[in-house]
Amino acid sequence: VDVHVSLVGRKDLTGEIYRQLRRAILDGRLPPGGRLPPTRELAWRLSVSRTTVEVAYDRLTGEGFVSARRGAGTFVSEAVAGSPGQPGPAGGVLRPRPLWEAITVPRVVEERLAEFDFRPGIPDAELFPYQTWRRLLAQQLRPAAVAGGAYGDPAGHPDLRRAIARHVGVSRGVQTAAGQVVTNGTQQAVDLVARVLLEPGDRVAVETPGYWPLGRLLASLGAEVFPVPVDAEGLVVEAIPPGVRLVTVSPSHQFPLGMAMSLPRRMALLAWAERHGAAIVEDDYDSEFRYNGRPIDPLQTLDPHGRVLYVGSFSKTMLATLRLGFVVVPEPLTEAVRAAKFVADWHTSLPTQALAGFIEQGYLARHIRRMRRVYQERHQLIVGILADQFTDQVKLIPSLTGLHVTAIVRGVTPAELAAVLERARAAGVGLMALSTWDAGPLSQPVLILGYGAIPTSRIEEGLRRLRRCFDG
Ligand SMILES: Cc1ncc(COP(=O)(O)O)c(C=O)c1O
Repeated sequence: VDVHVSLVGRKDLTGEIYRQLRRAILDGRLPPGGRLPPTRELAWRLSVSRTTVEVAYDRLTGEGFVSARRGAGTFVSEAVAGSPGQPGPAGGVLRPRPLWEAITVPRVVEERLAEFDFRPGIPDAELFPYQTWRRLLAQQLRPAAVAGGAYGDPAGHPDLRRAIARHVGVSRGVQTAAGQVVTNGTQQAVDLVARVLLEPGDRVAVETPGYWPLGRLLASLGAEVFPVPVDAEGLVVEAIPPGVRLVTVSPSHQFPLGMAMSLPRRMALLAWAERHGAAIVEDDYDSEFRYNGRPIDPLQTLDPHGRVLYVGSFSKTMLATLRLGFVVVPEPLTEAVRAAKFVADWHTSLPTQALAGFIEQGYLARHIRRMRRVYQERHQLIVGILADQFTDQVKLIPSLTGLHVTAIVRGVTPAELAAVLERARAAGVGLMALSTWDAGPLSQPVLILGYGAIPTSRIEEGLRRLRRCFDG
C-alpha cells in the first residue's frame, strides 16, 4: 500500500509521520493487514533520518495500530476498523436530523449595526447602570458568596427567587407561591416546561405571526407544531386544532404585532385549556414598559385552575445578554421543572444572584422607571412622525407597550418593501419587514420599528432617511 505522507512546513517530523499514518489507518486508506512502507524507503522519500521514521513506527506498534513481522515488514493490525476500499466511515458521516436544515440562527447575530438602528427587542445598552451591576456581581465572586464552589439549587438561589417573587408580584400581580425556577431566559423556560409536559409527537400551538424561536424549539423536542393565527384581539382560540396539549402566547404585547389580547379572548383561552386539559405558556417578555392605560393583567392572575405557566425575562428590563429569566409553575409541576433544569444545565450561573441585590435594593425598579420614560418618548416620537409624515405609506397597529411598534405598509408589494429596506440599509437605517421574521398568514407587508437600541436623538433623522427611501 502506497500511503501519502507530507512533511512540508512541519516541525515535529516523527509526530507528523505518526499522526498521518494513524489517520490513514483509521479512515481505511491503510486497511487491516496492509503493509506500511519499509522504514528505509519512507525515510528516503521524506528526506528524513531512518530513526525519525522508526520512532513513529514504534509508537504505532506500542499503541497496537501496527505490528512488525520479523523479516516481512510492518502491517496494520486486523483489530483496527476501517474497511478496505471504503472512502469514508462505513456508517456515513454524522449529520443533523433533517429538522435542523430549517432552523438557522437569525441574521441579527452577525449583522453589522446600522447607524440608525431600529431593530426590535433590544433594550438600550448605553443606559444600563453598569457600575451598580459590576459592584453587585463582584460581591458574588468572593469566597464567602461562592460557598466552597458547590453546585447550587437548580431552581435558583432562595434569595434570588424571593427577590424575583417580590418583583413580579408588585409589577405584574403574579403570585409565585407555587413554585418558580430561574432560567437562562425565556427560551430555556419554554424548553424546561416542554420537557416536563410533552411526549414526542404531542401537538402544540404557537402564534403566527409570532416569536418563531419558540416554535422551532418545540419542534426540535419532537412536538408537532401548529401555527395559529392572531387577529386584533390576539390568538384566535377557535383556530387551535384538536388535540393540542400546550399553547404559547404573548397576551400582554403580542409579538410581533403589538396588540394586547382582549379580556374575552383571555377568558376563552383559559376555558379552552380547562376543557382540554392543556397548558398555556404565557410569554410576558416586555410588558413592564407600558405607556398609557391600565396595565394588562397577566393570564396567570386570571387562572384559578393551574393551567398557566408564566414566563418572565430580564432581557428587556435589563440586558438580553445576561440571559436571565424565570418561570412560575403550578404546584404539581414544580419539582419536575426543577429537575428538568437540573438535567439541562444544573443551574443558572451563580454570580447572577447579583440580581437579588439589584432587585432588593431598588435598582431594577428605578432602572425600569427611568427606561419607561425614555422608551415612552421614543414611542411617541415614532408614532407621531409616522402619523404626520408617512400618512400615505403606513397604518400603525395600535400598541402601548414594549420596545417596538409595527405598521402595515400600504400600496407596496412585499418585494417593493424589501427594496425600500435595502435602500434604507444603504442609507444607514436598519429595520425589518415582518416577512423576514415570520409573516404568518398576513397578506399585507408590515414594518417592525424597534426603539430600544436607537438613541432618541437619532429617531427623526432615521425616519427622514426612511421616508426618502419610499420615494425610490
Ligand atoms: C416574544 C418574545 N419572547 C421572549 C423574548 C426574550 O427571550 P429571552 O428571555 O430568551 O431573551 C423576546 C425577545 O425578543 C421576545 O420577542
